[in-house]
Amino acid sequence: MQLKSVTYTSLAALDLDEEQLREIHGAARDLNGIDGISGLLVFNGTHFLQWIEGPPESVDELIERLRRDPRHSGFEIRDERMLERRMFGDWTMKLVRVRSNFHLAQDDVALQLPEEFPDHLRARVMGMVERISEDVEL
Ligand SMILES: Cc1cc2nc3c(=O)[nH]c(=O)nc-3n(C[C@H](O)[C@H](O)[C@H](O)COP(=O)(O)O)c2cc1C
Repeated sequence: MQLKSVTYTSLAALDLDEEQLREIHGAARDLNGIDGISGLLVFNGTHFLQWIEGPPESVDELIERLRRDPRHSGFEIRDERMLERRMFGDWTMKLVRVRSNFHLAQDDVALQLPEEFPDHLRARVMGMVERISEDVEL
């Protein structure tokens, strides 16, 4: 089966609280289980970075829903690729809260990436974590 992955970053709505974050995560897991999507959602207190993987059609439909979601803004796709196999097959959506300091955030994320996660993608995700932590435009 063809699989696609998309990684994006966005800025959380200013008033997003803990309860809403839990709601987003819970709904994401339920819907992703139905849609065959798995992935990783990183939140550093202000920004999201999300890796989504699954059947291309499901991924594209989710991206459209995410673009319309008012709970975040500044939606920007950072990476898009076809995959031979899932990187986060065990997770319908794993939420990783990272510390806002980027060195610490990178440690937090590094611990969660699967061992087989390719080095070049690891470097890319780490670079994105660094940038969302610094809150600068790519
Ligand atoms: C940061 C963030 C991550 C999200 N992740 C997912 C996800 O992985 N899967 C999903 O179905 N919806 C996710 N959502 C919710 C979607 O934006 C959308 O509300 C949901 O899919 C339901 O679609 P609908 O609002 O058009 O009914 C996320 C929302 C936000 C703000």
